[in-house]
Amino acid sequence: MAIRTIREMGDEILTKVCKEVKMMTPRTEELIDDMFETMYESNGVGLAAPQVGILKRIAVIDCTGEDPILLINPVILETAGEQTGQEGCLSVPGKAGQVTRPNYVKVKAQDIDMEWFELEAEELLARAICHELEHLDGHLYVERVEGPLVDVTYEDEE
Ligand code: NI
Repeated sequence: MAIRTIREMGDEILTKVCKEVKMMTPRTEELIDDMFETMYESNGVGLAAPQVGILKRIAVIDCTGEDPILLINPVILETAGEQTGQEGCLSVPGKAGQVTRPNYVKVKAQDIDMEWFELEAEELLARAICHELEHLDGHLYVERVEGPLVDVTYEDEE
């Protein structure tokens, strides 16, 4: 496993639409391991493959530090409700902004064995899923921020 360099806002790769993962390979498994390691090292709660320069539809999330979630080719099936709160991103270091997201999402994705599963999520996890999935289509949360981006001096980045 290795820590990968996190691409930051302004890097064109963060604006690209990622490609579907068609099959699991040793190289993709290594990428996933590295994404988890890079996310934990950076104290993030989520990381998408384009943030480490790879245009594949893969995201990793862990909102508690004890609940690693891997989403390959994720698709949101349902959303409900609304939550407004502060959000950050490892690709926009030192900043945060207020974003409104669904309070509930149901997502389907493939796991490390490329098996489909469904996941229901609320609150922070729902927010993280929405945030990471947008990365896979070349979008950053800053496009949705209500009000100014603020400086943060603590670690609460996604
Ligand atoms: Ni992000």
